[in-house]
Amino acid sequence: MPANVLVGAQWGDEGKGKIIDVLTEQSDYIVRFQGGNNAGHTVKIGEEEFILHLIPSGILHEGKKCVIGNGVVVDPAALIEEIEYLHEKNISVDGNLFVSDRAHLIFPYHRLLDIKKEERKGEGKIGTTGRGIGPSYVDKMTRIGIRVGDLLDKDVFARKVRANLSENNELLVKVYESEPLDVDQLVETYLGYGEKIKDHIVNTVPLLNKAINQGKVVLFEGAQGTLLDVDYGTYPFVTSSNPTAGGACVGGGIGPNKIENILGVFKAYTTRVGEGPFPTELPEEMNKKVREEGQEYGATTGRPRRCGWFDAMIGKHSVMINGLTSLALTKMDILDKFDEIKVCVAYKYKGETVEDFPSNVDVLSQCEPVYETFPGWLESTEGIRSYDKLPEKAKNYLTRIAQLLETPIEIISVGARRDQTIFV
Ligand code: GDP
Ligand code: IMO
Ligand code: MG
Repeated sequence: MPANVLVGAQWGDEGKGKIIDVLTEQSDYIVRFQGGNNAGHTVKIGEEEFILHLIPSGILHEGKKCVIGNGVVVDPAALIEEIEYLHEKNISVDGNLFVSDRAHLIFPYHRLLDIKKEERKGEGKIGTTGRGIGPSYVDKMTRIGIRVGDLLDKDVFARKVRANLSENNELLVKVYESEPLDVDQLVETYLGYGEKIKDHIVNTVPLLNKAINQGKVVLFEGAQGTLLDVDYGTYPFVTSSNPTAGGACVGGGIGPNKIENILGVFKAYTTRVGEGPFPTELPEEMNKKVREEGQEYGATTGRPRRCGWFDAMIGKHSVMINGLTSLALTKMDILDKFDEIKVCVAYKYKGETVEDFPSNVDVLSQCEPVYETFPGWLESTEGIRSYDKLPEKAKNYLTRIAQLLETPIEIISVGARRDQTIFV
């Protein structure tokens, strides 16, 4: 088995971290390929909870190699903080964490610009995580970005920061009425970070391709989700990268023909954090009930997540865009307590049935969900470990989702812990 890709199939926070952790056992390399520390991936081992923002969740298994690919934007301060957090928990990253020299860096002015841009948008804000993700990708695309590999040459690095800041400082001062950043101080701080992480910096492209050619199993860990994809999501209420399966090739440096399985992780319902349309979003009281049952608070910013029913229109879009070969459904246990569960099977727009997931958010925000209603099973699934033992009503719900999405469900998660997993 060469390369496998796992992606978030909704608006992020589907439980990717948990599923990655479960699949790491059968993998040799775990690779992040896009996004940055805007992600928050939770893994629960026994009663201990770990939250990873930048380092692949596979790091929690001994002997696995973890890669931060070229498509990721790296805030070195956040990376060092995460390495220290892992050290405190007796998890070593020495010799098993590789950071691409091509990955772009996040600087303090990216974070500042992220926040200032949001303030300026006011009502129309995206609700970003404020981690500087968008502005760092802007620099990459306008070709003034500075890469992780640049940290290894002091003179080159200082020259590039100077050139970049001559533009970004002007933006901060003249447009956003902010203080300019001190170039010398910034260079010194970042070279200090470089010194700390230099042993991890490599050209990860040959590393990964050699591994694949030797028959090692490489698992790509998507961050965010399909509906946050800058091309296929609810633009402009999206992130600035491609969290979809194609992103694994670009952001990891492997050919599409190397990919065998593409697993889409869905929550058994839907959540979203940040602004933007959300057709199946529940009215306040029910929204609160799902939020409290599912403990739906952001792993990165702590913001309450918006909650809604499962949306098969999104599901079908996600299957198509990613080429999903199978599905994982998480948080089934959260639905244990609902006497009625709904699934959106179609949208109505101005009275007409919509065939495809709309590309325009103004259309999407006027779409009315058409629901099928399922009776709840009203019994605990947390302790169940085989598909056969699931309540009939839960199986009916799962069967209908697989049928609507025309894709088999491979994994069902009935709790946050590793062992609370059903392989179908
Ligand atoms: P990610 O960003 O996709 O990795 O997801 P997050 O970690 O942000 O959010 C998922 C949350 O759900 C975390 O708190 C997980 O511990 C938790 N979780 C994952 N799977 C399950 C499950 O099957 N049942 C329950 N109750 N919690 C789960
Ligand atoms: P994981 O990997 C959920 C959302 C933000 C905002 C939008 C843009 O844990 O699933 P950004 O800071 O990326 O420019 O914000 O994207 N967002 C996420 N929502 N889970 C995430 O990551 C997210 N990463 C970004 O809330 O709406
Ligand atoms: Mg998350």
